[in-house]
Amino acid sequence: MPNDFGLRIHGASQIVLICSNGEKVLSGEAQKSVVTLESSKGLTVIVDLWGQIRDFGEDDEMWKKYEGAVYQGYLDATGMCIMPGLVDAHTHPVWVGDRVHEFAMKLAGATYMDVHAAGGGIHYTVDHVRKASLEELTQPLVGRLRRMMQGGTTLVEAKSGYGLDAPSEIKMLRAIEKARSIVPIDISSTYCGAHAIPKGSTEEKATDDVLNVQLPAIQRLREAKELKVDNIDVFCEQGVFGIDNTRSILVAGKNLGMEVNFHGDELHYTGSAELGASLGARAISHLEEVSEAGMDAMAEAGSVAVLLPTTAYMLRLKQPPARQMIERGVPVALGSDFNPNAYCMSMPMVMHLACVNMRMTMPEALVAATINAAAALNKSDTHGSIERGKACDFVLIQAPSWEHLIYRFGDSSLIRYVIKGNDILYTNPVLYTERTQDVDL
Ligand code: NIG
Ligand code: FE
Repeated sequence: MPNDFGLRIHGASQIVLICSNGEKVLSGEAQKSVVTLESSKGLTVIVDLWGQIRDFGEDDEMWKKYEGAVYQGYLDATGMCIMPGLVDAHTHPVWVGDRVHEFAMKLAGATYMDVHAAGGGIHYTVDHVRKASLEELTQPLVGRLRRMMQGGTTLVEAKSGYGLDAPSEIKMLRAIEKARSIVPIDISSTYCGAHAIPKGSTEEKATDDVLNVQLPAIQRLREAKELKVDNIDVFCEQGVFGIDNTRSILVAGKNLGMEVNFHGDELHYTGSAELGASLGARAISHLEEVSEAGMDAMAEAGSVAVLLPTTAYMLRLKQPPARQMIERGVPVALGSDFNPNAYCMSMPMVMHLACVNMRMTMPEALVAATINAAAALNKSDTHGSIERGKACDFVLIQAPSWEHLIYRFGDSSLIRYVIKGNDILYTNPVLYTERTQDVDL
């Protein structure tokens, strides 16, 4: 047995495995509980030199089993819970120009579509993104990804969609590539050139541009290995892209090897869930207005529902029927939907909102923010649970049990470490040194 390892984390009071039979997604009854290990004597996780989880168990047992082992680093996790890194399955993090003024308009009664139709909303951001240089787009993106990481996110989906033409969409995707090399967070990237109809254009012209100009240009860069694009997205909505054009765009992306992962049934019922299921969509987001037939079709197809509690909260929309989805066997995931409309990048906050507003239980919300969110991004082989052989993506919280991460809303000070591979990406400097028991600061 090789005797050299990367990291030994010891003394933890709880390890949150999520599941323990190698499951890649959890639906129905299986979404309702999480598997944990607990010990008053301390628990250890051993990480190999390549940053993969080698083993875990009681401190004493691991100490004996790996007697004489040499570690590059040790971490004392006394009194902490070791959780898998959180996965944010839906974000729009590449933009400049905030929309705080629109928040005021919405508080005063304007709807999302009122603002959009008046040339604001996505259009406002498109105007700013088109004018920005690659550097000007990358800088704030890097800051946002870092802050997401500090909130426990170790894998995030990131969309383009504020360019709406080939040069600007490619600029956004290049910003994601640059950020990938700067911030050690894993990114699943999404081309969303069909996010809105550009000002002065029509749905038909915009669809034609996506199919015949943007997608071919992006494909050339993928083939040249300059861009990595994992998913294809469309905003399927009344007054944006209708069901037929949505289908054409998603099929074109799928034929290029992208995963179908799109916005649907948000403000109006459009048949997005049924369409997505028929295309074998990896995931469909929003779904506030999904039909019962759509939910059943998704359950049958195994498409993941990515629910976005911040948006429903911000826009005071009807909540998506999370309970019905779970009861009907649709795997439910969560995303922050971070964007200039919904400025929230905290997955603990998202889980809290999902519990209170969508009536999910805490285990359902944690499953949704880990293994199921990883499944929505086709990454649950490596991410989303603590399992031997998987990537070491951990969040360590200073609390008696993992539920505190959801319960203490708006307070991220309990996140003590964020770890990836053998690297500690984030250490919370709050004075915990003398504490072995949790005490509220
Ligand atoms: O998921 N619904 C469409 N797209 C985003 C909002 C983007 C924006 O308003 O800038 C969403 O909520
Ligand atoms: Fe979105």
